Amino acid sequence: MLLLLLLSASSSTMASNSKETGIRADTSTLEYVHSIWRHGDRTPAELLSLEDIRKWPEGIGELTEEGAAQQYRLGKWLRRRYGEWLGDFRRDTIYIRSSDYNRTLMSAMANMAGLFPPKRPLTPGINWQPIPVHTRPKATDKELYEDAKCPMAELEMSKQWKSKKADGIRKKYARELAFFAEKLNLKNMELKVTWAIYDNFFCEQQHNIPWPKWMNSTLFSRVTDLYNEVSQLDFHTETLRRLRGGTLLEEILNRFKDKINGNLGENAKFYAYSAHDSTIAALLATFGIFYEIYPKYATCLLVEMHKLQNETRIIRVFHKNETDIDRLIEYSIPGCSPPCTLQKLLEDLSRYFPSDWETECGLTSNFEFVYLVIIFGLLTATICSSTMFLLEKYKKKQKFSGEDTVPMLNVDDSD
Ligand SMILES: *[C@@H]1O[C@H](CO)[C@@H](O)[C@H](O)[C@H]1NC(C)=O
Ligand SMILES: *[C@@H]1O[C@H](CO)[C@@H](O)[C@H](O)[C@H]1NC(C)=O
Ligand SMILES: *[C@@H]1O[C@H](CO)[C@@H](O)[C@H](O)[C@H]1NC(C)=O
Ligand SMILES: *[C@@H]1O[C@H](CO)[C@@H](O)[C@H](O)[C@H]1NC(C)=O
Repeated sequence: MLLLLLLSASSSTMASNSKETGIRADTSTLEYVHSIWRHGDRTPAELLSLEDIRKWPEGIGELTEEGAAQQYRLGKWLRRRYGEWLGDFRRDTIYIRSSDYNRTLMSAMANMAGLFPPKRPLTPGINWQPIPVHTRPKATDKELYEDAKCPMAELEMSKQWKSKKADGIRKKYARELAFFAEKLNLKNMELKVTWAIYDNFFCEQQHNIPWPKWMNSTLFSRVTDLYNEVSQLDFHTETLRRLRGGTLLEEILNRFKDKINGNLGENAKFYAYSAHDSTIAALLATFGIFYEIYPKYATCLLVEMHKLQNETRIIRVFHKNETDIDRLIEYSIPGCSPPCTLQKLLEDLSRYFPSDWETECGLTSNFEFVYLVIIFGLLTATICSSTMFLLEKYKKKQKFSGEDTVPMLNVDDSD
């Protein structure tokens, strides 16, 4: 009896966590959408052996033709869901931001070709119109680049690698880990590198590139499980949710507030992030939705804000969680049963908003700050005095030459 209760309890929490829903959005109340997708099919992000480079003419970690096609289809699917509501391309309606990788930038462009076909061909035969895609440098992209330098998050991650959970995985897959260490000639078979093993064999499988004799589908399915279990070490702690997922969640929820306050303008409707598996995983985890399968190619998370008749704003989270599939699921956000208001979500989740990310990451400790101020002061003094010196010299020279305008510090910026 107890067992039965436990079983039904666990299955009911699973079921209440997500349910299948229709493809068409409920546009009667829809006010604003955030869409976060993973790039399409790519070549391995890191090779197991340098010789493997021959297998991948596109280069490493690059979008393939198939990947671009997946994104184009995702764009067409987004048109089915939002098309009538979104209308034709308008500069003040949408904003597309990509991480600074060829594969995510190209994915964004392919997706937009599917979402916004032109009303008439741009020029005969070209059924495409340009849509702006924005990006920012990787090093400062704390919303979309989960590897952005953050010492505190790295420390937390190193604790994860030493955790009981990690040890459990090491034990469970001891045979496979030893096997790969031997076959790949790795001295230390760290759990950290198992994703690269999965990634390489997965990419080869997708592209019909034959595996070595010792690899087969039975072993690959074990590697897939290993990969998914190891992925669950990421983003699952309070610190990692705050430092890795919190940055993007904060931006998204704040943008909803901006929409309500009129700061985005009347016509703003759709903001898309073209990013990575880790972006989706970190965001989900910060919502409190813990994935079992790591996000796949060209899958897409949709965070919608709806305005009810009494002006209350509610948030709904949808996931197109398989590549090229029509099925869409809706999550119920833990701790915020539907109708989940923006207000409640902000109350619950603002604890994951890093108020000063750089400082919390340990990037600017007070000591370093003082140090920087001193260096900056010294530099300014040096530059000022040497400029004065040069200026004096120049003035003297000018007296003799009588030339009109010779710029002092002429920097050639013609490139
Ligand atoms: C993009 O592609 C170029 C050309 O292949 C390559 O040099 C560069 O490293 C790639 N950049 C990124 C960020 O993927
Ligand atoms: C798959 O490969 C492993 C390792 O090479 C081997 O031990 C196993 O017998 C193979 N299984 C099948 C079904 O071929
Ligand atoms: C997608 O969601 C369905 C329904 O919850 C689930 O059965 C399936 O395993 C999920 N797939 C992935 C890749 O997460
Ligand atoms: C607004 O309407 C929703 C749905 O009918 C309801 O659940 C909610 O309590 C209402 N809120 C207010 C402030 O009236």
